[in-house]
Amino acid sequence: MKALMLSGGRGTRLRPLTYTGAKQLVPVVNKPILWYGIEQIVAAGITDIGIVISPETGDDIRATTGDGAQFGAKITYILQDSPDGLAHAVKIAQPFLGESPFLMYLGDNLIRDALSGFVSEFVERSLDALIMLKQVPNPTAFGVAVLNPEGRVTRLVEKPKEPPSDLALVGVYLFSPQIHQVIAQLQPSPRGELEITDAIQALVDTGGNVTAETLQGWWLDTGKKDDLLAANQIILDETLGHHIAGTVDDATQISGRVRIGKGTTVVNSTIRGPVVIGDNCRIENCFIGSYSSIANGVTMLDVEMDHSVVLEGAVIKELHQRIVDSLIGRRARLVHSPKRPKASRFMVGDDCVIELI
Ligand code: TTP
Repeated sequence: MKALMLSGGRGTRLRPLTYTGAKQLVPVVNKPILWYGIEQIVAAGITDIGIVISPETGDDIRATTGDGAQFGAKITYILQDSPDGLAHAVKIAQPFLGESPFLMYLGDNLIRDALSGFVSEFVERSLDALIMLKQVPNPTAFGVAVLNPEGRVTRLVEKPKEPPSDLALVGVYLFSPQIHQVIAQLQPSPRGELEITDAIQALVDTGGNVTAETLQGWWLDTGKKDDLLAANQIILDETLGHHIAGTVDDATQISGRVRIGKGTTVVNSTIRGPVVIGDNCRIENCFIGSYSSIANGVTMLDVEMDHSVVLEGAVIKELHQRIVDSLIGRRARLVHSPKRPKASRFMVGDDCVIELI
């Protein structure tokens, strides 16, 4: 069994961060999203992993994630020249996949359930495809599956206006090599992509044995800011241990589970966990409330913050309002200016969102 991680794409929903970096490398609890999926794949016993990358962000993914040794895996990178769809990614990965069955995982998705049970079911029942589903309150936003009473997939509909079920396709699939034959026949959809839902539908229509499993635990697609914050909250809640490696002065109050990295100094601040702070940060006269993740090399001075993610090297100083539900990009500067006239001054990149009080 091999695995195929999809880590190309456009990432338009997470602009502006995706102008300068891969969305799959945005951290959740200070670890790239992509790595959670790789770890789950390895935990399911699959160590031969192909990662589909784009020309824009592929080098970054390669440099950060490496040859797989750190995960106990062997990683092969597969360049997709343009994001022409999930089934297109499978098509260009065919030389890597060969005649092997494979698990496909969308690199910006996080799921709670372990993958090993799904892998064994797929192998034991000799299925052509096993797709993972999750009940959602808003099926119109997803690819949706219809099942017969035996749990076999009969129909798939992409973003239906009138949803025939509330079972959304999660970004994790298992395929036999049969999938390559149907993808070879596939035509681009109206949006110009080779759709994996069309490929699975073609498998069903040609008599393939396509079954579904419904996830019990949470599923998060981290493609948008609020989803990313939700993922950060859940992973902080479920996994964070208490560990202080940096220096914390006597005037600082820490409560709950808090992780502070080496080389970080915290002065005269209140930190209410779960909170993670990376290495080599300076946090002074701050309140940092629960569900915040602060990456390496961040400076925060006279700041109140809650439920936010701050990326590497950002500087936030002397703001006179609390920051909540925010995602602050790498090396961003949010600072108070004493200059007259008293006014807000911005240099805001394309597609940024700023909500002022
Ligand atoms: P999406 O999130 O559906 O697409 P996207 O990355 O283009 O994002 P947006 O909608 O914000 O523009 O893709 C799901 C995952 O699959 C994501 O990790 C990117 C990856 N992907 C590829 O590797 N190749 C592709 O051709 C496409 C469409 C997506």
